[in-house]
Amino acid sequence: MKGGGALFTLSLLAPVFSDAAELTLRPFELNVIRDPESLQCKHVALREIPRYRGVHDEGYQRSKILDTGEERVQYISFDKDLVWMHAEGLCGRRESWDFHTLLQDETPSGRVSDQIVLQSANIPGSTAHTDIPPLDIEPLITSGDSNNRVDLVFFADGYTEYEKDKFIEDALRLAEDISGNQTFYTVKPLLNFWAAFTPSKEVMNIVLLFLHEITLTLPAQSGIGSGGKPKETPFGLYRDGTELRAVYYSKPEVARAACFSLGDQCDFPILMGNDPLYGGLGGEFTVITPSFANGALVLRHELGHSVIDVGEEYDGGFAYFGVNAAHNRTLTDVPWAHWLTNASAHTHGHDHAEPLARVERSVMPMQAYPWTLLNTSTPWSTTFNSSGTYAWHLVRFSLSGLPEQDDLRVELDGKDLGWVPRKDIGVDRWHYDIKLNRTLKGGEHKVQFVLKNKTREGEAQLCSVEVLEFGDESEFVSTPGHYSLYPTFSDKNETSYRPTNEDCLMRIVTTPNFCKACTEGLWYALLRHVDLIEDLQAGCEQDDSGKWARTLELNLVPLAHLRDSPIDVEESYTITWMKDGHLVKDFANKTKLVDDGDAVGSYVAHVQYTTEEVRVDKDGLLASTAANFVATSCKA
Ligand SMILES: *[C@@H]1O[C@H](CO)[C@@H](O)[C@H](O)[C@H]1NC(C)=O
Ligand SMILES: *[C@@H]1O[C@H](CO)[C@@H](O)[C@H](O)[C@H]1NC(C)=O
Ligand SMILES: *[C@@H]1O[C@H](CO)[C@@H](O)[C@H](O)[C@H]1NC(C)=O
Ligand SMILES: *[C@@H]1O[C@H](CO)[C@@H](O)[C@H](O)[C@H]1NC(C)=O
Ligand SMILES: *[C@@H]1O[C@H](CO)[C@@H](O)[C@H](O)[C@H]1NC(C)=O
Ligand SMILES: *[C@@H]1O[C@H](CO)[C@@H](O)[C@H](O)[C@H]1NC(C)=O
Ligand SMILES: *[C@@H]1O[C@H](CO)[C@@H](O)[C@H](O)[C@H]1NC(C)=O
Ligand SMILES: *[C@@H]1O[C@H](CO)[C@@H](O)[C@H](O)[C@H]1NC(C)=O
Ligand SMILES: *[C@@H]1O[C@H](CO)[C@@H](O)[C@H](O)[C@H]1NC(C)=O
Repeated sequence: MKGGGALFTLSLLAPVFSDAAELTLRPFELNVIRDPESLQCKHVALREIPRYRGVHDEGYQRSKILDTGEERVQYISFDKDLVWMHAEGLCGRRESWDFHTLLQDETPSGRVSDQIVLQSANIPGSTAHTDIPPLDIEPLITSGDSNNRVDLVFFADGYTEYEKDKFIEDALRLAEDISGNQTFYTVKPLLNFWAAFTPSKEVMNIVLLFLHEITLTLPAQSGIGSGGKPKETPFGLYRDGTELRAVYYSKPEVARAACFSLGDQCDFPILMGNDPLYGGLGGEFTVITPSFANGALVLRHELGHSVIDVGEEYDGGFAYFGVNAAHNRTLTDVPWAHWLTNASAHTHGHDHAEPLARVERSVMPMQAYPWTLLNTSTPWSTTFNSSGTYAWHLVRFSLSGLPEQDDLRVELDGKDLGWVPRKDIGVDRWHYDIKLNRTLKGGEHKVQFVLKNKTREGEAQLCSVEVLEFGDESEFVSTPGHYSLYPTFSDKNETSYRPTNEDCLMRIVTTPNFCKACTEGLWYALLRHVDLIEDLQAGCEQDDSGKWARTLELNLVPLAHLRDSPIDVEESYTITWMKDGHLVKDFANKTKLVDDGDAVGSYVAHVQYTTEEVRVDKDGLLASTAANFVATSCKA
């Protein structure tokens, strides 16, 4: 596998030519936001990115529908003309663009400078203009230079000048939660987390009273808007009503300009609204609140969507795609086929048929997202039919504004299910599962949410509710860590399949980790933007006797034995060195090669990373090669 001729298939994309930085090509990335029905473009951004590994000549394109209902099209290619052709193909001739665009400025030499041009409408005489908000950048958790890392940036909304420390604390708490010992901890050396602070003003609360020559200044207010009305905050975050649900943004062009202005330092923008309770939105921007119960939960789920590029695993969604979704049982079409626990359970007897995967037996007889405020006069209820053929069932729901057990009764067929609120949840949202290990009888059943405490009206909310039924352990393996095909039911009750029952935070948002299929997808996604070799530097060293030596130092992303703190996952780096085309056995696995001071010629380092979190590496993303040609001897 390693060594030999493979080392000389030096692709232009992967290696880092350390003494020839000019040769490192940077690909161009196009981002288009448009209306999926009218196909009207709303925004175009075009910039250089440090790298996109494994991209083919025709470029890389993807498109998806965002939580906002908009379509986002991304296209990456090394050919700038091709990128422009794509942009004009999607949005019409450049001259006709009358929407907000973000384009990197080009200097006459063709090299892109750090300058950016923020173009508003190209319409002559247009006064539309977007200022980049002032951004006070602080590192939260960083691991290396932004040109070889994936950078996540928290932007502040609804934090006043005086709440800057709170913003930094909130952002740091969330960054540590998702990368300290769970979720993103194994890929932490590939990530940087930054806080970008902009103070919020709220309606110019500076009231000047020139009576008796007294000047009075009222303090600015903090927090995000409600009732569909944003406050005067940098990105205009707001809730639709007062109840806990999504948090929307009203100034996407400001958020885009802010992230764009940071260049390589902003890959995934996170807009954080200063509100203590549940709320969020995914898509072009990850919108979150620093809620103690829900902030990290929403953040890691939404980052799962945007970073790994996967859809939902929970029921009732509209988008199921990526490494964690299969749409039929054809074994060869199951993206996680190499993670299946019991391979022998999955082959079909018939000679000519394609092998089919086993499907765990379950059904969803009821599911709703009421997002409704409860009242004491009429309980919220719904009925559904059961086939009466499943061994056990589950009532799954989420609530907010219900801090006490005595506030609410949850009933199935008139029987109290004994709901207890999560300890210390207060009025924030939380998710509950009530497992009932018995067969639901065939026929009609009724689920009912009875609000008992009138003073909770206006705040007590039923967010979601579903009933699931399961076969016995021989039909439905519910053991954690078991990989199979588990049915997931969409908002239209269409069935797709996910890898595990409840191992993944893309399904169970309260669980802090991804399943293995998603974690593997996370490595793929990050390693497209990160080269395991940071650089290969040639140098000269003189020892005490005055003798010169040639050195080659290989800087690697600190994984495996190079990590700051070890992790509980098997991983290693294997390093092979070649000098003038010959394997140098003595230097196997060394990050520093010491040669004769007179030595000239080519040095090539090949690096292979292995981790038990990645079983298949189709695009060779876990390998990297760097070359350095030494032309002069050290003594010269
Ligand atoms: C990670 O640390 C947090 C806070 O200390 C703790 O609650 C959690 O259980 C830890 N998770 C793991 C997987 O150790
Ligand atoms: C199965 O689904 C995959 C996508 O998940 C699709 O590419 C394939 O064509 C489907 N195969 C059949 C037999 O429907
Ligand atoms: C694997 O699947 C086969 C076929 O369904 C079954 O007989 C066997 O018991 C399974 N093994 C395990 C360990 O679950
Ligand atoms: C979804 O479809 C299955 C049959 O395919 C049915 O048994 C179930 O009741 C349906 N669920 C809903 C919520 O319509
Ligand atoms: C009380 O809640 C029920 C169930 O959600 C709803 O149908 C009814 O309209 C509500 N009544 C009032 C006065 O809001
Ligand atoms: C349950 O099934 C019965 C008999 O088919 C039907 O009359 C009834 O409307 C169904 N109930 C629901 C909630 O679908
Ligand atoms: C249900 O109860 C049976 C018998 O006690 C047990 O074997 C089985 O594991 C239980 N199933 C679940 C899902 O808890
Ligand atoms: C009802 O809710 C109020 C707060 O809204 C609380 O003070 C009171 O103790 C609750 N009453 C009961 C009976 O739980
Ligand atoms: C280099 O390191 C890898 C990974 O630890 C190991 O498998 C391999 O045997 C090592 N090679 C040599 C020559 O020591």
